[in-house]
Amino acid sequence: MTTTTGFGHGKVILLGEHSVVFGQPALAAGIAAGVRASAQPGSGRIQVPAWGIDARIGDGSQVALAIERLLARLGTRDVDLAIDAEVPSRAGLGSSAALAVAVAKAVGDGSADILAAVAEAETVFHGSPSGIDAAAALHGGLGRFRKGEGWQPLPLHRPLKLCIGLTGKPRDTRVQVEAVGLLCSRTPAARRSIDLLGALAEDGCLALSAGDIDGLGRLFDLAHGLLAGLRVSSLELDTLVHAARAAGAIGAKLTGAGGGGAVIALAPSHSHDVLDAWRRLGFHGFQTVVGDAR
Ligand code: MEV
Repeated sequence: MTTTTGFGHGKVILLGEHSVVFGQPALAAGIAAGVRASAQPGSGRIQVPAWGIDARIGDGSQVALAIERLLARLGTRDVDLAIDAEVPSRAGLGSSAALAVAVAKAVGDGSADILAAVAEAETVFHGSPSGIDAAAALHGGLGRFRKGEGWQPLPLHRPLKLCIGLTGKPRDTRVQVEAVGLLCSRTPAARRSIDLLGALAEDGCLALSAGDIDGLGRLFDLAHGLLAGLRVSSLELDTLVHAARAAGAIGAKLTGAGGGGAVIALAPSHSHDVLDAWRRLGFHGFQTVVGDAR
């Protein structure tokens, strides 16, 4: 029996979450940890042991509906999928896009439009996503993303070390995106901060191309402040950010939709101090290297 496999990267957004939904540029990376899918002829079973999922096409679950739409776009249905997930689900690390990319690559015939198929699944999971998670999951490495322009790989002087801290609280992208949209429609200053977040992302691209890691860290701090002002931070996210800074991080911010999920900290000489500080507070964290695509 033929088994085909595909891999999708987990992602971190360095700068530009939420503002990317409004058409602003963003800076993101596909990380080494991700999701691997194995497909073989079958009757639509979807197993993701790491996320406690054992679903079947047509069972009414969100994951089954997402995969059904993705498979329909690729012109197939009769497969069983065994999924090995290295990234936690609903943690702000692009798990659903990584899953969708892995399945589309395992099932697609090479000529398939992977991103269009992944967009079908992501719409079921998140409403109207910008496409940044899917682009990072597909490409890996570091990139600039803008709606309508897509993913533009960014060369790096040297791979960038990031600490990722997990709140352990699930985030809901759809809810956070809708809340930011509502706030911006009612409050012109909030809408203006979206443009500023986009400008920070552009500055981040410049800082990285100049090898200015200190400058990038300051942009992280500024972005976290603006995102907190848009009310997508939380007590846990703020705690992780402040603990990282106190432990020597150059900059730290929430990453992804917020509300729960994860933070990133830039601490090239203090990674272990940051991870220790988080552990002492009861939070799990790990280190990843960006610009090191598989
Ligand atoms: C989620 O990873 C990033 C958001 O900007 C939503 C999106 O771009 O679709 C919050």
